[in-house]
Amino acid sequence: AAAEKDGYPSFMEKEIHEQPRAVSETLLGRTDAAGKLILDELRIDPEQLKQVNKIIVLACGTSAYAGQVAKYAIEHWCRIPTEVELSHEFRYRDPIVDGNTLIISISQSGETMDTLMAVRYAREQGAKTLAICNTNGSTIPRESDAVLYTHAGPEIAVASTKAFLAQITAAYLLGLYLAQLRGNKFQGEIKDLLADLHKTPEKIQTVLDNEAQIRDLAVAMKDAKSVLFLGRHVGFPVAMEGALKLKELAYIHAEGFAAGELKHGPIALIEDGQPVFVVVPSPNGRDSLHAKVVSNIQEIRARGAKTIVIAEEGDEAVREFAEHVFYIPATPTLLAPLLTTVPLQIFACALASAKGYDVDQPRNLAKSVTVE
Ligand code: G6P
Repeated sequence: AAAEKDGYPSFMEKEIHEQPRAVSETLLGRTDAAGKLILDELRIDPEQLKQVNKIIVLACGTSAYAGQVAKYAIEHWCRIPTEVELSHEFRYRDPIVDGNTLIISISQSGETMDTLMAVRYAREQGAKTLAICNTNGSTIPRESDAVLYTHAGPEIAVASTKAFLAQITAAYLLGLYLAQLRGNKFQGEIKDLLADLHKTPEKIQTVLDNEAQIRDLAVAMKDAKSVLFLGRHVGFPVAMEGALKLKELAYIHAEGFAAGELKHGPIALIEDGQPVFVVVPSPNGRDSLHAKVVSNIQEIRARGAKTIVIAEEGDEAVREFAEHVFYIPATPTLLAPLLTTVPLQIFACALASAKGYDVDQPRNLAKSVTVE
């Protein structure tokens, strides 16, 4: 078994380090020489895809956070209203779907019972169903109209890492493909984004090369009782995923919040020494989101929070209010989750290991939940 782990102490660590490859394999062979996306493998008539007027993403757990990241990108690129819903909530609420609804299910295993049942239900209502899945020939893709496989390779650790980045990558490809099909105004931008996407594996590697900083911090924080995570825009689902990883692996109370919600409740939790991770948007992004998040860091710092900031390299503005800054390479805002998630995975994994827990098999959890 040690050999299968390639010298890593756990499958999880191995899989975290396989992420550059999981992303590049998922991108591989899906663009032509001219930089145009080719997704013929979808087998849904492009004319039908052009008719889609609503997208619903269905998933559970970490896969649902990949869906939430995808929503920001798909709505921005395609101008198609996109909802993300937990499969088990969708099934029982009498949702509105019809022949022009595209259901995108996201599942690493392709066997999650709630997601399978939700897809079946949507199909019965006449929706088109497309599966983003990591397991060839599994049940969800077999029961869907179309499939876009993630090529992360088998994921053994219960807590999902490389499959998550591959799911986000596949969802971006799909979003850019739909934008291309529909002839949206920014065809030039699509080409640039694809080029940026192809640069992310190398940038993920840079994040991994700097992991010692985050591992040391995790070891130093191993007795933390509660850790909060704040993010805005695509950083919001990243914050929730960071919190989920910490709960799953280290059994520490953790919660992810939208930074804009701070004043509506979470700030009441801030007391002296409370650790808070903050995922900061690029200072070069639009809508001055950066300044808003920096002011959130200031607010919690003033109340005694121990702030741990994930920011883009060169972002000096955050230094003043951060106890720790972990820098990631510059990347367009919508693609940032492929980088900002990684230090949070490393943190949870290293902290759980420091506590002596089995990171591959956390208590009470299963890799694939095939019962309701
Ligand atoms: C379980 C796993 C998670 C996974 C979720 C959804 O809870 O422990 O890692 O995110 O199921 O699984 P799926 O295979 O549908 O992505």
